[in-house]
Amino acid sequence: MSTPRPFLLLPLLGLIYTPVGGVTPEGPRLGRPAAAEAIAEWNLNVFPDGTGLPPGSGTAVEGKPIYERRCAACHGAEGGGGSADELAGGNGLTSAHADKTIGTYWPYATTVFDFIRRAMPLDAPRSLSDGEVYAVTAYLLHINGIIGAGDPMNANSLPRVMMPNRDGFIRLYPKP
Ligand code: HEC
Repeated sequence: MSTPRPFLLLPLLGLIYTPVGGVTPEGPRLGRPAAAEAIAEWNLNVFPDGTGLPPGSGTAVEGKPIYERRCAACHGAEGGGGSADELAGGNGLTSAHADKTIGTYWPYATTVFDFIRRAMPLDAPRSLSDGEVYAVTAYLLHINGIIGAGDPMNANSLPRVMMPNRDGFIRLYPKP
């Protein structure tokens, strides 16, 4: 077996990648330009202050059956004991070893909505209507003891929900 000779390879690579006559070689032409509708479909960002929240509304009472049908198989009944992340229950914030749940770990209710809308249920993301996402978000906030069972969550009310650990995070950027 001969020893590799990198010093021979380097000039060869230079030859291949040197633009001929100053013209950069073309790329492999993979992919296609994203259509405006495809961009719009994923242009879903909801910011902590609620910017980007869509119309619609839902309560925990409405969200419970949706949770049971679409979420409980992975996250467990009442948000715990399943194979996927614990969403409620566990040790509270006052415990020295608080479990990470929506109640202890998420500083903004608006981003819970954003995450569920874009990523959950894991086996069929984007299959819930905005109203259903509001309802299931309300249900999760309710079983974390943050809102009442009948409190409607919508573009107006969701940004006003004070999450228990809102001030428990260290900011890496100045407050706006
Ligand atoms: C097929 C299993 C499955 C189903 C069904 C499912 N999830 Fe999840 N969920 C997961 C997994 C796995 C993660 C962790 C994903 C990750 O960290 O990227 C997760 C993460 C989450 C999180 C973030 C938890 C955290 O604190 O990081 C939330 C909130 C959530 N799911 C809500 C829901 C809701 C609401 C539904 C029903 C509409 C749902 N999930 C249905 C598997 C599932």
